[in-house]
Amino acid sequence: MTRDAGSSDLLRRVPLFQEMTPALLGELARRLRPVRFRAGHAIFHAGDEGSMLYIVIEGAVKIFIPSTDGREVLLAILRTGDVFGEMSLLDDEPRSASATTLDDTEMVSLRRNDFQEVLNRYPDACRAIVSVLVRRLRQTNQSIQDAYILDVPGRLARRLLVLADEHGIPADAGIEIDLRVSQQDLASMIGASRVAVNKQLQAWRQQGIVEVRRQRVTILDPIALEKAFTVAE
Ligand code: CMP
Repeated sequence: MTRDAGSSDLLRRVPLFQEMTPALLGELARRLRPVRFRAGHAIFHAGDEGSMLYIVIEGAVKIFIPSTDGREVLLAILRTGDVFGEMSLLDDEPRSASATTLDDTEMVSLRRNDFQEVLNRYPDACRAIVSVLVRRLRQTNQSIQDAYILDVPGRLARRLLVLADEHGIPADAGIEIDLRVSQQDLASMIGASRVAVNKQLQAWRQQGIVEVRRQRVTILDPIALEKAFTVAE
């Protein structure tokens, strides 16, 4: 790693740390260790014992639950500033999901004891972790509601808009989702088959609602996508 991954300056650029006091940032900077993995690296597997939490500095990590038939439930794609691996450190249970890098990824890691000590000493750190967990719970509640209420087009439309909100960059014709997501990834996110996702994306392409090129999706008409789930709700 070319720069000091534990420096306060670098941490300050991570959204999670922006509100933290200099004292807490200094404390974290001393305890965090830089880690770098190539794309496709399995950081840990569901069921492993957890010993560290990670914060993404640059790159992308997918969080998923594998199943015995080779399919997976894709829970989240994490980017700069996102934290993962905290759950098993908080409840001493095994890893609740697997984590694999999607791109070459730089992270910092914090050991279990250091994490617990920082939480004990700094209420700001507790608040930051609680807000991460609450945000995730809200997203999970939304996904459960979608699974009960929406059909495949509705779930796919909602997920594409969430991805655009979290990872969107302005493009000539619309909003490009700044991630490589395969049709299988999208299917794993919404609990549908790849064939059903493919069919829906083709239909939206023909209607000029989305564009898909080399696993990158651009949303051309967000209003039309919104209609796919507001009409169904
Ligand atoms: P842990 O259980 O230690 O290891 C797997 C990690 O995946 C978990 O901690 C969380 O950091 C993360 N994780 C689990 N469920 C979700 C979810 N629904 N959304 C985003 N991240 C999650």
